[in-house]
Amino acid sequence: MSVPNTQHRVVVAAFPDGIPQPTDFRVEEALVPDAEAGEVLVRVIDLSLDPYLRSVLSGRHIGHTRPEIGALMPGRATAEVVRSDDATLPVGSHVVAETGWQQYAAVPRASLRRVDRSDAPLSTALGILGMPGLTAWAGITQRMSLHRGKTFVVSAAIGGVGSTAGQLARVHGCRVIGIAGGAQKCALAVSHFGFDACIDYRDNDWETRLHDATPSGIDAYFDNTGGRILEGVLRQLVVGGEIVLCGLIDQYNTGVPYALPLAPVIGKRATLRGLVVYDFESQYPEYLAFAAPLVRNEQLRYLEDRSNGLTSAPLAFHRLMSGQNIGKAIVAVGEP
Ligand SMILES: NC(=O)c1ccc[n+]([C@@H]2O[C@H](COP(=O)([O-])OP(=O)(O)OC[C@H]3O[C@@H](n4cnc5c(N)ncnc54)[C@H](OP(=O)(O)O)[C@@H]3O)[C@@H](O)[C@H]2O)c1
Repeated sequence: MSVPNTQHRVVVAAFPDGIPQPTDFRVEEALVPDAEAGEVLVRVIDLSLDPYLRSVLSGRHIGHTRPEIGALMPGRATAEVVRSDDATLPVGSHVVAETGWQQYAAVPRASLRRVDRSDAPLSTALGILGMPGLTAWAGITQRMSLHRGKTFVVSAAIGGVGSTAGQLARVHGCRVIGIAGGAQKCALAVSHFGFDACIDYRDNDWETRLHDATPSGIDAYFDNTGGRILEGVLRQLVVGGEIVLCGLIDQYNTGVPYALPLAPVIGKRATLRGLVVYDFESQYPEYLAFAAPLVRNEQLRYLEDRSNGLTSAPLAFHRLMSGQNIGKAIVAVGEP
């Protein structure tokens, strides 16, 4: 495939105030970069949109520095190697790379993760077989003690992390209740992901509904949101129950910390454990070996919220950060 001289890329036009808006970004024409020593040139296929990018734009992310105004928006993608002098990474190889929001990127070879396309569709390397899937697996297997018959609850239940966590809890024999925003998402949690029930937290009486769906209390909660959802679930935790704190999307747009009452943590003798996926990167091969066959035979299912074309990325990011995505948010940038 021939490589053009110029490409499109998306830069940061303004730091978002609240929910990111498409006007916080600008599409520019730019030169396709040259690969320097130790780099390969890749062509982006699918771009991953993830909530942590909102924290990066606020300068509050532990792993990334905030881009300058006018700089390339960071992000991860699946890509095809189009120029390489490395025989172990030939042209035509497929990888996951930190490309940023652009069509072509020169990336350090050492930073790339090679993807075997026979595992599953390539885009799953950004979702259920990628960072969100590893996050869910790490939380379930390394940060919780789940047993058959326990009642397990997960929020942001049909997203990349939440849907995988709920399905893995079912593999452990748990009764799984999702919490999600809206009737359509809740219906999918049950019909597509096989959860036992799902509660729409936008309903005024969602806590009563959660109580009715968990008559013997909640043994384990995988928290992707923080805020009032975490507080409401904590009230219904059994004594000795456990919570994995995975995400705080409730406050990413505002930056305002939620004052969680701590008395129930004491009263419930609860165990709260924080989760950072970067701690588990060395266990990725173990996760992939476990999950890829289950994805192939559809014992583990996924949903993607796909937008078409790089220029759709700003609007798709707005949709993600306002809860409008139905599944893992992906932007199709180039031909697969
Ligand atoms: N700790 C780690 O290492 C790690 C790694 C990856 C991801 N995470 C976290 O895991 C969570 C899920 O990530 P994901 O990639 O799977 O995203 P996702 O669930 O696919 O998408 C985000 C979802 O968050 C919910 N949401 C958005 N704004 C919200 C708000 N103000 N209050 C409550 N819910 C809101 C929406 O679902 P509903 O409409 O259903 O609420 C939205 O669809 C995020 O908090 C993310 O930061 C943590």
